Amino acid sequence: MEPEPLPIFRDKDNSPPAAGGPDLSVNLGPLHLQNPVTVASGTFGFGEDYADFFSPRLLGAITTKTITLQRRLGNPPPRVAETPSGMLNSIGLQNPGVEEFVAQVLPRIERLGPPVIVSVAGESGQEYVDLASRLAAQRSVAALELNLSCPNVPRGGLEFGVDPATVSQLVAAVRREWPRTLLVKLSPNVTDIVALAQAAANAGADGLALINTILGMVVDVERRRPILPRAVGGLSGPAIRPVAVRMVWEVHRRLPSIPLVGMGGIACAADALEFVLAGATAVAVGTANFTNPRAPVDVIEGLRAHLEACRESSIRDLIGAAHER
Ligand SMILES: Cc1cc2nc3c(=O)[nH]c(=O)nc-3n(C[C@H](O)[C@H](O)[C@H](O)COP(=O)(O)O)c2cc1C
Repeated sequence: MEPEPLPIFRDKDNSPPAAGGPDLSVNLGPLHLQNPVTVASGTFGFGEDYADFFSPRLLGAITTKTITLQRRLGNPPPRVAETPSGMLNSIGLQNPGVEEFVAQVLPRIERLGPPVIVSVAGESGQEYVDLASRLAAQRSVAALELNLSCPNVPRGGLEFGVDPATVSQLVAAVRREWPRTLLVKLSPNVTDIVALAQAAANAGADGLALINTILGMVVDVERRRPILPRAVGGLSGPAIRPVAVRMVWEVHRRLPSIPLVGMGGIACAADALEFVLAGATAVAVGTANFTNPRAPVDVIEGLRAHLEACRESSIRDLIGAAHER
């Protein structure tokens, strides 16, 4: 699927584009990215499957699927269901566990080139801390992304990401173990996203990733049963983009100095630009990878073309530009 051409919104002046082209580089706290585009956790595997379609070197960063302490086999099938302009998934965090990840997978991801962001999840606060200290010894892990859309088993299975006090405690505990860039991925299944963002930022996060999938459900009317065995799954794709852009907007308005990685239905550069203008420093391409494996590079090339067309010298000048200043 060809990405739609980006509209040219404005022409700043008649000067020629900067020599060498516009600067796409951004910083997520201490982490420098050559461009603002990464891939959303769980939608890019460990990166190698996509090497037939483009060089992973082109990405700003590679974000892995979520790793847990122990190997997880994931949920029974079916694990996905189609929805209008999106999909519902219930994968169940299938992954090889941290030890096999470090021994077998990480050395291969390292060779792909871009900074590696490892997504982690635990069933208790201590499991997050253990994952952080295990991965801290791996110098090639540039950043940790805490996936908080996970049941907190000691607290009765409520997601970690829905309670500001829990988020604050968890992020502070991981911060003590993790010396490099710390990203916290927020769950959108909350009433007040800003309160959660504030809790993570105050506890020491260098950046926030938002959003994870939105809880949803599809019923098979023939069988009169939910399609997914666990009934409820996570909705992703273009259907959730306006919700994600709104959350990025709200968090950036209240916390303009914390870098945000925006995601939710990004399929082309115009979509990515919405997030940047709303306040995202970087963006992640997720569900679009399944229909267009070149989507991340299409986004990078489209952003570059847009900046050139608008005579903008740096993407950083566009971050949050949709807000009144
Ligand atoms: C099949 C699938 C698997 C996913 N697995 C993970 C995961 O392991 N960890 C995580 O933090 N998010 C996971 N996500 C959520 C995505 O990283 C992303 O936050 C969400 O899908 C919104 O972006 P999108 O609409 O571009 O896909 C998954 C999403 C999908 C569709």
